Amino acid sequence: MSVTINQFDDRETMLESLYERIIGDLEQALALQSSITLLLSGGSTPGPLYQRLATAELNWKRVNVALVDERWVEPEHEASNERLLREKLLTGNAAEAKLVGMKNARATPFDGATECSASYATLPAPYSLCLLGMGPDGHTASLFPGAEGLEAALASKQHCAPIRARRSEVTGDYVERMTMTPWGILQSRRLILLFTGAEKWDVYEAACRSSASTDELPISWFIHQDKVPLEVYWAP
Ligand code: 6PG
Repeated sequence: MSVTINQFDDRETMLESLYERIIGDLEQALALQSSITLLLSGGSTPGPLYQRLATAELNWKRVNVALVDERWVEPEHEASNERLLREKLLTGNAAEAKLVGMKNARATPFDGATECSASYATLPAPYSLCLLGMGPDGHTASLFPGAEGLEAALASKQHCAPIRARRSEVTGDYVERMTMTPWGILQSRRLILLFTGAEKWDVYEAACRSSASTDELPISWFIHQDKVPLEVYWAP
């Protein structure tokens, strides 16, 4: 378990520090590779970060931005993570970045997983950076506790896996999801976990305990792995 904790007094300071971290990484990677991959999560927390990243003077046309997970809805849907990234990140300077989505024409993520993994297999790897979020139920990406497909996703050696989550306040109506697998995510050079608030901090601490069950707190899988150091960014 290799975890670095970065705690901040407020979200603005945290996001500015995280912005500097990410841009520094991307600049370093672009100096060494012609094309790089940035893996980003959806949800509400990272929106302001994405808007800040979009202002960066970076060679964005050489950056592949790929989703860590997706609700199985059309890209125009209000719940789409692809739409979130198009609206918050692929504007301004970052409009030139190439966005690789997950949603394809298949009816369900279970039908679409093979095609999605084949698409992700073409992304330049190792990935420069992966930004994970965490829900109050201890999920990350779309690895939801007790979900159909969770066990298979955790054991998979494919980039993406289908999930049918148990409906909850966290999932809302969007229980059919595609997620990157731990195997895929751990092909990242840097792994960052971004979350805020006291409630999520308590969930994070529970996941840190050696007794934590990956099925009940999937984020614990990434806390207890020792392949890629995990950097936590947290503010109240
Ligand atoms: C999603 C996200 C998800 C997110 C967490 C945290 O599709 O919902 O990818 O995994 O990272 O749910 O979301 P919040 O930042 O909204 O709490």
